[in-house]
Amino acid sequence: MVENTSLRSEVAPILRLRDISKKYYTRDGGVFYALKEVSLDVMPGETLALVGESGSGKSTLARMALNLAKPDAGWVELAGHRTSEMSAQEMKPHRSKIQPVFQDSSATFNPRRTVRQILAQAMRSTSNPDDAEVEAKSIAILEQMSLRPAQQILKRFPHELSGGQRQRLNIARAICVNPSIIVADEPLSGADVSIRGKVLNLLRDIQEQAGVAYLFITHDIAVSHAFANRIAVMHEGKIVEYGEAREVVESPKHPYTKVLIESALLGRERLDALR
Ligand SMILES: Nc1ncnc2c1ncn2[C@@H]1O[C@H](COP(=O)(O)OP(=O)(O)OP(=O)(O)O)[C@@H](O)[C@H]1O
Ligand SMILES: [Mg+2]
Repeated sequence: MVENTSLRSEVAPILRLRDISKKYYTRDGGVFYALKEVSLDVMPGETLALVGESGSGKSTLARMALNLAKPDAGWVELAGHRTSEMSAQEMKPHRSKIQPVFQDSSATFNPRRTVRQILAQAMRSTSNPDDAEVEAKSIAILEQMSLRPAQQILKRFPHELSGGQRQRLNIARAICVNPSIIVADEPLSGADVSIRGKVLNLLRDIQEQAGVAYLFITHDIAVSHAFANRIAVMHEGKIVEYGEAREVVESPKHPYTKVLIESALLGRERLDALR
């Protein structure tokens, strides 16, 4: 036990967010804070769920983590590098370490590119593999995602896939550059219940094999409880509760967490079904 604790403390977080604030201006000239001094860490190989209702600031936080937008205050560190201070050019060598999987998978693909071109472009954006390597890796990843027969899928355009297949392609594209962390923003929304379970299992398998960490964004605290090691609860741009998943769900401290749990109708049966 003691050994474990000391080992843990020596491991540095893969992603650190410190005192992040982001404000937007309202049409009447007022200021609105989408994020207020938010801090969190994601450890290598873990899943941290970020839970909160619509408009609480989750996607804004995801964009800061990915360095797709800059905070007004605070900083982001990826594997020890201050990415929040980097330009797009400076970010390039670090881009493969952190990959997004966004909500709406149909909007994230260029409709004129085939699956083969989509995966090849992703791999070539971060390294210089030759054609044979790209082909072999693409096929292996499609197989891993149960996108079969891989040779046929490679020739298709995104609109020639089902919604569930497209979401798996989305994950394949993120995984194919061997990231240390994936920021998944509502990756299950839009997928029906049977597909949700499959995608969660797939993400779990990938984590076991590749040791990738997830910052997993969802409004569903039941999914978080089943899937995450730790949970951060967001409410009106702030983190109001942050801890081990089991503890947060089974003995919530903040009134808002209690509301989330009640509104999720968190029956034992539902939790067991998700496990
Ligand atoms: N570019 C923008 N300009 C102005 N306000 C914005 C902008 N982007 C987001 N907001 C506002 O900031 C708040 C947080 O938005 P955000 O998209 O982060 O919420 P969210 O938690 O991801 O919600 P959802 O669960 O619906 O996706 C919302 O009130 C939103 O309207
Ligand atoms: Mg969002």
